[in-house]
Amino acid sequence: MSSRISARISAISESATLAVDAKAKAMKAAGRPVIGFGAGEPDFPTPGYIVEAAVEAAREPRFHKYTPAGGLPELRQAIADKTLRDSGYRVDASRVLVTNGGKQAVYQAFATLLDPGDEVLVVAPYWTTYPEAIKLAGGVQVDVVTDETTGYLVSVEQLEAARTERTKVLLFVSPSNPTGAVHPREQVEAIGRWAAEHGLWVVTDEIYEHLVYGGAEFTSIATAVPELGDRVVILNGVAKTYAMTGWRVGWLIGPSDVVKAATNLQSHATSNVSNVAQVAALAAVKGDLSAVERMREAFDRRRKTMVRMLNEIPGVLCPEPQGAFYVYPSVKALLGKELRGRRPQTSAELAELILEEAEVAVVPGEAFGTPGYFRLSYALGDDDLVEGVSRLQKLLSEAV
Ligand SMILES: Cc1ncc(COP(=O)(O)O)c(C=O)c1O
Repeated sequence: MSSRISARISAISESATLAVDAKAKAMKAAGRPVIGFGAGEPDFPTPGYIVEAAVEAAREPRFHKYTPAGGLPELRQAIADKTLRDSGYRVDASRVLVTNGGKQAVYQAFATLLDPGDEVLVVAPYWTTYPEAIKLAGGVQVDVVTDETTGYLVSVEQLEAARTERTKVLLFVSPSNPTGAVHPREQVEAIGRWAAEHGLWVVTDEIYEHLVYGGAEFTSIATAVPELGDRVVILNGVAKTYAMTGWRVGWLIGPSDVVKAATNLQSHATSNVSNVAQVAALAAVKGDLSAVERMREAFDRRRKTMVRMLNEIPGVLCPEPQGAFYVYPSVKALLGKELRGRRPQTSAELAELILEEAEVAVVPGEAFGTPGYFRLSYALGDDDLVEGVSRLQKLLSEAV
């Protein structure tokens, strides 16, 4: 008898980040004062002018209809203009596909590029969604593991050691979720040239492009390495830059044949993104970057506080991230120690103990392919942040 759930779909795991978030929210609903460092979304509301554009659109019948599957033509044009402004990458609007969040762009990029057995080089620690999207497309993920000693930066030598005859795609994400690592321009160029030399495709996720701190600069691999030619697919969206996670608008930019094929797929899967949400995204990408600049300043302040306070905890080693809104400390030195009558052996066990004993939610490194670490988001209010890390300091200093 055939099984109830297909093998393909049974192989997909629950999103670990959403699971931690759900558990923390359930504890909160039960009246416990949980502080959550799990969520991957800005704590700010969407800027007013974007909301107003959506309200006006919701009142107009012409925005109550389907749009072309690829998106509103004026939004595709605005995304092309914005990509030139922010990434220095010139692209025709016909090469932009508007998707239901960056997540659908990730899924469709791999579905469009991969045949069964094609290998994808993925730098670990990696965001939880990539493995599932690659697996669903029949691709084979090959991890290239980085750690805190290099600030989670990957080198050409590491990538070359992982390349085989079956390698088709390099996934490049800078700034990175979960580590916040930002690759310097020279390294981006070296990696891109290496990919071009070997005829690889590069799928680059630029969703955190505007969240960089200190002296770090975002470099788009598509622009930095023209030798890549048309073998580049850019993924992006409005979620992180404009505090618009719930509006679900992202996009994919690629060569015409890839965009056309991905649009065909989307036309059967979800048709177009909500028309009203597209109008909101249009207001966002057409507008200036002053709102993200204000959020960036707040994130930068919280980043510094968090790194300082975490490094005060014996056994925690937290490199200073230069982008996104996450820190990724190693907690390896705490594993196997006694804490409140228990001896957690893995970062997952330690995270569970912390949630129960300190009512603080962190995501264990198991979710990102590298056990022995935690991911903490600093996209939460300053007071909660200090209170949450103080609880961690108090609890973890008891470890013996
Ligand atoms: C690296 C990265 N890419 C893409 C996304 C997708 O964002 P969304 O689907 O909300 O646009 C996220 C969200 O967490 C992310 O962290």
